[in-house]
Amino acid sequence: MSTPADALTSIHVGGDQPYDVLIGHDLLHRIPDLVGDAATVAVVRANSLAALAAPVVDVLEKASLRVTEIAIPDGEAAKSLTSAQHLWDALAAAGVDRRDAVVAVGGGATTDVAGFVAATWLRGVRVVHVPTTLLGMVDAAVGGKTAINTAAGKNLVGAFHPPAGVVVDLDTLATLPAGEWVNGMAEVIKAGFIADPTILDLIAEDLDGAGRPDGPHARELVQRSIAVKAAVVSADLREAGPRESLNYGHTLGHAIERVENFSMPHGHAVSIGLVYAAALSRLTRALDDDVVARHRQILDGVGLPTTYDLAAWPALHDAMQHDKKTRAGRLRFVVLDQLAHPSVIEAPEDAVLEEAFAEVAS
Ligand SMILES: NC(=O)c1ccc[n+]([C@@H]2O[C@H](COP(=O)([O-])OP(=O)(O)OC[C@H]3O[C@@H](n4cnc5c(N)ncnc54)[C@H](O)[C@@H]3O)[C@@H](O)[C@H]2O)c1
Repeated sequence: MSTPADALTSIHVGGDQPYDVLIGHDLLHRIPDLVGDAATVAVVRANSLAALAAPVVDVLEKASLRVTEIAIPDGEAAKSLTSAQHLWDALAAAGVDRRDAVVAVGGGATTDVAGFVAATWLRGVRVVHVPTTLLGMVDAAVGGKTAINTAAGKNLVGAFHPPAGVVVDLDTLATLPAGEWVNGMAEVIKAGFIADPTILDLIAEDLDGAGRPDGPHARELVQRSIAVKAAVVSADLREAGPRESLNYGHTLGHAIERVENFSMPHGHAVSIGLVYAAALSRLTRALDDDVVARHRQILDGVGLPTTYDLAAWPALHDAMQHDKKTRAGRLRFVVLDQLAHPSVIEAPEDAVLEEAFAEVAS
């Protein structure tokens, strides 16, 4: 299935506050339709993305909206209380009221903090996400989770605040550094293993192409991954049940990020975590050897890391115990019973956890 370049794809996200994710090219003109009754719109963008935000501002002004543009730091530095404060002050200065809206233009860090500020300003104003990284498109902008970081850890302060709409304009990827694309591929590959194996087939067919935003299957990979996330969060916004499957590869991934002091890109840590989760699935659920091997082949093939230092195990084990998703000190892992059939294991034996790590260790 290849989608014509000028086609518009719309993926519905259900639940109490439903919305659509629009995917295609040249889509920024759709944004004014998504801001509801707003008279003023705050466009929040990362510092370096002035050129990507300019057409967004332009299209809103042409729709007779008053626009205030607010720049925040690039990357993770944006997810701070200082940035949130700066944004709240700027919304106050612009007179943003309950009918008004925030439009976030940038990667997951930008949509996370802008979403959090929209969730808290006047107890909640409308937010529209315009993700400009692969990770933002397939993960952060869809699902309604917003967050900032504190001294105690990442994403500890936040709110569920579903957007009024998400505009995935694939043209914004033209300037995305190759490494950022590859980083996002870890979540695409995760979506393939937990729910949509066609994603894996498309990647395996052209590993080189899958590693680039202009690869032949780029759009289909984005669409299919968004469809996986949309289906899961439609059924479970607040992580009471099926949403946990999205955590495949993330229990060890988060521990690696902590041990690395968050200097390793999220996608790299998740990639190693996926290989680990596959090894654990083989040991605990008798997952087929060829499905296990496929994890490493595909992740390696697009340029993601798949091994980690064996000596780091005690520190990683300790970091997993402190993960915010650990319940009452009992470790939980999403595993695969078979391809596209995730389930959860709780409090597995330490010896099994260590044996699985030996398969990842370099
Ligand atoms: N809310 C959620 O459900 C959820 C899910 C996954 C991840 N996240 C969060 O997302 C964040 C990571 O997001 P990310 O990987 O998109 O990183 P990011 O937002 O830090 O962006 C990475 C870098 O790319 C730049 N950039 C963005 N788009 C660009 C473009 N089109 N051209 C050139 N440069 C561009 C950014 O300015 C930044 O420097 C983390 O904070 C993570 O916690 C949230």
